[in-house]
Order: sequence, then structure tokens, then C-alpha cells
Amino acid sequence: MAKEQSVVLVKPDGLQRGLLGEMVSRFERKGLKLVAVKMMRLTDEILDHWYEHHKDKDFFDELKSFMKSAPIVAMLWQGVEAVAVVRKLCGTTSGREAEAGSIRGDFSISQQLNLIHASDSVDNADRERKLIFKDGEIIDWESAAEALVYSAAERS
Ligand code: CMP
Repeated sequence: MAKEQSVVLVKPDGLQRGLLGEMVSRFERKGLKLVAVKMMRLTDEILDHWYEHHKDKDFFDELKSFMKSAPIVAMLWQGVEAVAVVRKLCGTTSGREAEAGSIRGDFSISQQLNLIHASDSVDNADRERKLIFKDGEIIDWESAAEALVYSAAERS
């Protein structure tokens, strides 16, 4: 089945609140495979592209300031239907509405300070991956756990 990659950003509030390990742990325990990770400070140049679709919203400047307020940790998680799976683990955008049991549902009570970003489509994941990672930063490795988390049909 088709393996997808989803770009995840642990946002400044996630890092400041010490929730990085909790988030990584949830993705690992689900059975997703980490293929790239880096800590960085987001720039206006990246954010103007990243949030292009929000540039006319009244919260755009505040969103950019928030995303530059501390470093973020960017990760690329791979798996069967990874884009939908990762979004489900994150929960809906607003922490107040997000389902209990999801990352935002369990740890956020804000629409903006919602701890984490996850790609919302395979096309956007591709676009976001290119904005953050260089080819050499993505590691293709054999996960021994794959035989335990997928059936043979799902692995092929
Ligand atoms: P995310 O869905 O990762 O990407 C867009 C971000 O904009 C979203 O997370 C929130 O952090 C932020 N956002 C969305 N809606 C609002 C809003 N109404 N006010 C402020 N920030 C918002």
C-alpha cells in the first residue's frame, strides 16, 4: 500500500511546554517511522510560503510572531496513509474542540497555540518537505518494527 510522508512541526509552545518527547512517543507507539528530524528557527521567508493560504487573515502577523517566538522541531513521519493518521493523532485545529485522546485535545486549550502542525494533504506534505528538508537530511532506513505493525499486504 502507498506509504506517505507527513511533515510535523512541534511549534514553539510545544517545545516551551516540554511536550516534544510526549509527541514523538505518540507517533512512535502508533507505528510510524521517523525519517527526518531537525530543530530550527523559522524565518519570515519560510513562514510566508508555509502560511501562504493565511496571508489575508487578520491573525497572520500574530501567527508569524508566535511561530518565531522559539525554535521549532520539524519531523518527517512515514507510514501507510501517514497524512491522515498523523492528523488524527494531532486532533482538529482548535485545542478547545480537539478530541480527547489527541495531542491537541489532551494538551491545548487554544486555537493558535495548538502545539503542533501536521500536513493536511499529500501535495502539501510534498511542498512542506521541500521548504524544510534537503534531500540528504531524509534517511531511508529499514524498520524492524514494520513486520509487526503492518500485514504483508500492507507492507507491499
Ligand atoms: P495549523 O492548522 O497548524 O496551521 C495554521 C495555524 O494558524 C493553526 O494551526 C493555528 O496555529 C493558527 N490559527 C488558525 N486559526 C486561527 C485563528 N482564528 N486565530 C489565530 N490563529 C489561528
